[in-house]
Amino acid sequence: ARSLIIDCDPGVDDAIAILLTLAVPDRLNLLGITTVAGNVPLDLTQSNARKICELAGRTEVKVYAGCPRPLLRSLHTAADVHGATGLQGAALPEPTMPLQPQHGVDFLVEQLMQAEQPITLAVLGPMTNIAIALIKHPEIIQNIAEIVIMGGAVTQGNVTSSAEFNLYVDPHAAQVVFDAGAPITLIPLDTTHQLLTTPARLETIRQIGTPVAQAAAGMLAFYGMPDSQRYGLPGAPLHDPCVIVYLLEPNLFTTQAVHVAVETQGTHTLGRTVVDLWNVSGQSPNLQITRSLDAESVYALIIDGLAKL
Ligand code: BDR
Ligand code: CA
Repeated sequence: ARSLIIDCDPGVDDAIAILLTLAVPDRLNLLGITTVAGNVPLDLTQSNARKICELAGRTEVKVYAGCPRPLLRSLHTAADVHGATGLQGAALPEPTMPLQPQHGVDFLVEQLMQAEQPITLAVLGPMTNIAIALIKHPEIIQNIAEIVIMGGAVTQGNVTSSAEFNLYVDPHAAQVVFDAGAPITLIPLDTTHQLLTTPARLETIRQIGTPVAQAAAGMLAFYGMPDSQRYGLPGAPLHDPCVIVYLLEPNLFTTQAVHVAVETQGTHTLGRTVVDLWNVSGQSPNLQITRSLDAESVYALIIDGLAKL
């Protein structure tokens, strides 16, 4: 199994990504979950991560709280999309499993320093924790197998017309991560908008009938309603689970190696991923982005996973 740390800001789609990971312990060996401020503030993202692990009966998973705010900017949340709790639509009890006392960034560094085999990072929120870990101990890069990130947009953003949420919240952290020289796969909005929770797919989840599936369906029914209305889509995009599916079945995605810069100054374009699809800049690629996914197969895999819990 691949050793994995999930860095996230749950968040409904983060929660589905965590559940999918917990469903495949033979493929993904989850070393821990680090949380960051993003969709909702840190006190909620860390307790939401624990609620989801408890929902799946996995109280032994180690959950850490990382950074409470972006590097330079003040925190911009997405409570309109995920509800004030971050997991609206699921009535989950307050978690009883512990929050680990260590800081999330220190956990990331410690794991990567002592790793016997390289560790994969699944990054589902603003990149603050990863950036600080890379700044604090650049040598950890040697033990990073791959960083797979949900973030950015080739075309249109979802917070502003230029910027996707995770990049908009902490563009400076994203720049640190993109420039670090680690092997990175970026899954931008253009790809995740190909994976929509249509009413029919929601029904398939509901019909699984387990408490996990009920909770997932409840959250997904609420989640992203503003998104789908705003963007005229037949369902809310399931962004973060794409990262976990990519780790399991990369062949369900097409990719392209590109140079991506982050706009950290623009008045209208702050947080934009400047993606050089045609290499007009002549700069060598610093990461690969996904361009498309096979939505039916990706959904089948997610539903299969949820049914196992
Ligand atoms: C990203 O922003 C968050 O609201 C989601 O959890 C996802 O990580 C999509 O833009
Ligand atoms: Ca997220």
